Amino acid sequence: MVLVTGDELLTAADKGKYAVGAFNVNNMEILQAVVTAAEGERSPVIIAATEGAIKYAGIEYIKSMAYTAAEKSDVPMALHLDHGKDIDMIKKCIEYGFTSVMIDASAMPLEENIAETRKVVDIAHPAGVSVEAELGRLKGVEDNVSVAERDAILVNPKEAERFVMETEVNSLAPAVGTSHGAFKFKGKPELDFDRLAETKRLTGVPLVLHGASSVPEYITEKASKYGAKLPGAKGVPEEQVKRAIGLGVCKVNIDTDLRLSLTAAVREVLAENPEVFDPRKILGPARDAINDVVKYKMKLLGSSGKA
Ligand code: G3H
Ligand code: 13P
Ligand code: ZN
Repeated sequence: MVLVTGDELLTAADKGKYAVGAFNVNNMEILQAVVTAAEGERSPVIIAATEGAIKYAGIEYIKSMAYTAAEKSDVPMALHLDHGKDIDMIKKCIEYGFTSVMIDASAMPLEENIAETRKVVDIAHPAGVSVEAELGRLKGVEDNVSVAERDAILVNPKEAERFVMETEVNSLAPAVGTSHGAFKFKGKPELDFDRLAETKRLTGVPLVLHGASSVPEYITEKASKYGAKLPGAKGVPEEQVKRAIGLGVCKVNIDTDLRLSLTAAVREVLAENPEVFDPRKILGPARDAINDVVKYKMKLLGSSGKA
């Protein structure tokens, strides 16, 4: 099968009230784990690569691996640039055949974010590539934060309405209280669901939940048992991810849970088998562990059986 656009996957998810997982890949094992899970679950999938992943693996390798995966597979998948910040890199990804790009100009003031995003849409759309953009800051928001501070960090739904109208992006990532990484909340996790629902109502586009890893205890416990130091690690509870999907989230970004499961598996192999030095015996179990996590996520997101 050829790679499909992000828009094709998200429009179907929006209609069907489920979300497609966007899983960050940095090497062959992670990519294979993600794609095999999609095949096993009969699920559409988004292969996400950040600028950091591209720097690490090389754009030729990322592109070739994703194209090989798509050719060998019969589930629909998109190749997506995650958190693109550099227009030259975005252009390069489009040239290399990415089918979806994110322009993350969320650190800029609104007018500049609109102008930058519009520039990317004008390059991507004629090439048949979908565009995702971001509004607000991906930062955990605690209960004790004032309304003014909250408003300064999280998405403003009225601004989102204008943003989508003027930029014509295909999808929008609104900041609603999640953040990247394994330490998302100091206190009780609680996303701003009212803001999310209002953003959906006013924009009408598929929404994207970044920072959606749940940081499952069984994984952090295993990693810690074998020496990892992750005190205070906390993610988005699974019920909250599901609730967000019910309110219009059609793409859920997961990286941290894959990183944690890889780390736990590698630590376990090395600790339990000190004689092992064959990379296949170290990275093979990590690939299996990621595969299990991705299959589980696909069921949670409701994308299983949708391919
Ligand atoms: O935003 C996505 C990632 O979790 C950060 O990934 O370290 O490849 O930039 P990166
Ligand atoms: P996590 O760090 O919660 O996995 O988020 C990943 C992400 O948003 C990638 O864009
Ligand atoms: Zn992100």
